[in-house]
Amino acid sequence: MTAPIASAPLDDLYTLQQHFFTQFPTLSRQDFSNGVYALDPDARQSWLAIEQFPPYEIAIDLGKQLFTHPFSNGQHYGDCFPDYQQGMSQHYPYWDLKTQTVITLSQAINRCRQQNQAPPLPPTSQSLINLTAYLTFLSRDKPITITVPPEPGARAAYQHGKKYYHQRRGQLNFSCASCHVQNAGKRLRTETLSPLLGQTSNWPTYRLKWGRVGTLHQRFIGCHQQIRAQAAAPQSEIFRNLEYYMSYISNGLPVNGPSIRK
Ligand code: HEC
Repeated sequence: MTAPIASAPLDDLYTLQQHFFTQFPTLSRQDFSNGVYALDPDARQSWLAIEQFPPYEIAIDLGKQLFTHPFSNGQHYGDCFPDYQQGMSQHYPYWDLKTQTVITLSQAINRCRQQNQAPPLPPTSQSLINLTAYLTFLSRDKPITITVPPEPGARAAYQHGKKYYHQRRGQLNFSCASCHVQNAGKRLRTETLSPLLGQTSNWPTYRLKWGRVGTLHQRFIGCHQQIRAQAAAPQSEIFRNLEYYMSYISNGLPVNGPSIRK
């Protein structure tokens, strides 16, 4: 199962979604947003036990406090994002025509800060993660809705992310797809490999390994370490384009973050 490099986004989406629906015929579209918990009954059971007292709740509460606290000029985040209560994270990342780049939710928050004379937060600062946790929580169950407009820059960003996902790298010479497409559902040591479909829907997420809520781009770095490959930085252009491709392929699945992962 390799996605042809030059194919159009909608063809990729259809081909890959069909591939996974055929491979896992008992799973609903919704199930895929639960990653390995849809495939591994033992992992699912321990997850459901932890969900009784979800460790990510503090991050949501702190994020809400930050979000509703006014900037020094009296404005609020809500003035930048008037519809946030209806959920907005399902529309991120998006292609920004004006700056010709992919904008993630973290970046949109930082843009809002800069418009209000507040310094941007570092990509992995806990305050920024908490803000995204709150906004993602407000989007729970909303279908992921990512568009790749028919515009050369947007198409190029999408193709860049796609190529990265399917290209082999690192001392072990694996691509992301080697594990998450070709071997999805199989075991790697003690873990079941999640399918590409739904991989972005639960982020930011509480990882037991980290003991805190962290970002999708931090998870990307962990996967690079597994194959001994050099990783880019959180919020770098390649990681944003990678997120753009991965989120686009998961169109229609519900937002499910923040969640819990090993
Ligand atoms: C050697 C196999 C391997 C490769 C290659 C690999 N990963 Fe992973 N990845 C894992 C394992 C194991 C996990 C943890 C179990 C799971 O959720 O799949 C994981 C988890 C993830 C998750 C979290 C999924 C969730 O539901 O929370 C994301 C996102 C992810 N990988 C992205 C990538 C990307 C992007 C690449 C390429 C840069 C990549 N992975 C390469 C093994 C791999």
